[in-house]
Amino acid sequence: MSVTASASAKTILFGEHAVVYGEPAIAIPLSDTRTYAEIRPNGLEFRVISPKVRLNQTFPELSEESGLKQLLYLLKDEFSLTELPKVTLSIRSDIPIASGLGSGAALSVAVIRAFAGLTGSELPAERVNGIAYEIEKIYHGTPSGIDNTVIAYEQPVIFIKGKGFRPLEADLSRLSLITADSGIRSKTVDVVSDVRTHMDRNEAALRGIGSLVRTAETALKAGEPAEIGRLMNENQRLLRAIDVSCPELDELIGLALANGALGAKLTGAGRGGNFLVLAQDPDHARKIRSLYAERDIRTI
Ligand code: PMV
Repeated sequence: MSVTASASAKTILFGEHAVVYGEPAIAIPLSDTRTYAEIRPNGLEFRVISPKVRLNQTFPELSEESGLKQLLYLLKDEFSLTELPKVTLSIRSDIPIASGLGSGAALSVAVIRAFAGLTGSELPAERVNGIAYEIEKIYHGTPSGIDNTVIAYEQPVIFIKGKGFRPLEADLSRLSLITADSGIRSKTVDVVSDVRTHMDRNEAALRGIGSLVRTAETALKAGEPAEIGRLMNENQRLLRAIDVSCPELDELIGLALANGALGAKLTGAGRGGNFLVLAQDPDHARKIRSLYAERDIRTI
């Protein structure tokens, strides 16, 4: 019997980086962009394959440092397995790596869910979240936990590190939001570490982001696109102040604003990766998407 499970991508609407220091942040799942984990018995050995990253290894062959190997150790314990099952675990993902969409957390959550399916266990979202967080620590060093939380629960959240989350009670379906990929890859762990190194210089902007998120929550609940756009621009200004944007992101964000967008900001760690644009309406969104398409900028 084979089992398939999946997990969504995510974007952070407001509050990245400040969330590492205890400020609230708002994140939403991108349910149409997913990572899939399929487990199929092979009667031979445990093997993991992921054609996109040219991975094809047995358990002993996986590097001890890899998040995936550490996840497999945790899953062996979680499901009290004396050894890993003789199966092929196939990973397929639509989520670009190192681009602010939570690819690492989605991989963990998809694999955890597939193992739960294989062993016939009901694993509550809280437990899925807890295991995925352990692996985020390997990928990111000092993760806030927002990525694994929004992905494990797959719902819009307001998240505070160490305190958990509450669902964001807002209708986002009427917002013309575009997620676009600068195509530049950057490592979360490096950007987060730079922000920490210059903490004395960054502290005020990080606190500013925190208070902006509280205002954004109200605007999202009230469904006020102009105010949400203004707050996205303000959030981006503060992210630039802590030096996590880059010239390419600034240029692509500027293009959207010059073409009538209400707001735009990077999402995730920054210095590349994805960014968000809030267009006035679906027509404007189409126009902005086509401007990006002309430059080979992928949008979701
Ligand atoms: O770029 P991502 O998807 O890894 O998001 C990182 C979000 C940060 O706030 C920069 C770090 C964190 O742990 O919350």
